[in-house]
Amino acid sequence: MTERRLLLATTNPGKVREIRASFKGLGLRIVGLAEVLPGLSFRERGRTFLENARAKSLYYSRRWDGLTLAEDSGLEIEALDRAPGVISARFARPRPSDERNNRKVLRLLAGVPAGRRRARFVCVMVLSERGRVIRTFRGEVRGTIAAEPRGTNGFGYDPLFFYAPLRRTFAELSEADKSRVSHRGRAARKTRAFLEEKGRARAVRRRALP
Ligand code: IMP
Repeated sequence: MTERRLLLATTNPGKVREIRASFKGLGLRIVGLAEVLPGLSFRERGRTFLENARAKSLYYSRRWDGLTLAEDSGLEIEALDRAPGVISARFARPRPSDERNNRKVLRLLAGVPAGRRRARFVCVMVLSERGRVIRTFRGEVRGTIAAEPRGTNGFGYDPLFFYAPLRRTFAELSEADKSRVSHRGRAARKTRAFLEEKGRARAVRRRALP
């Protein structure tokens, strides 16, 4: 029997690490962009996480033969009218980096009291195959923006994202603990459950063949 392959359509190493861990033991071979579609890149132009994830997923799924999973994610801060949102990765233009993005957030929130620093991370995953969307999954997690960065794990805005139930920023959590509560962990578990179900249905169909 041929092994099913799932293309993880992201080049962000932090996301790849987390999603791979969430899909461990799933029975699919997870492949990366560099492995199956080297040299291709997709420019995000959408106004929502869903638009971006969908466009990205379809773009890559039209160019290869297996399942494709793309995701778009980011941070929405209430006091900044949901910025940085879809431009989370590029917030501190013209030369964005995780550190500069974090500094920009802290600058914009200077003087905003603890009670008004609510934020959420959102992740939308889109699964598709040969140019057709199969299913969309969404995860989110609520927190607050800390007064200063704390912790060295994770990536992006993790050092600023304070998660009250664990009394830690995401950068102070282990990868497993972050995954249990994070936007990406939640979306990945929904995706995983769907893929498991799909895999079972496929096995039943195969057994039914004459
Ligand atoms: P994109 O989905 O590639 O456009 O980038 C998403 C950006 O949102 C990342 O580069 C981070 O800045 C931020 N982001 C998304 N998920 C996380 C997370 O789990 N932790 C910290 N930052 C995140």
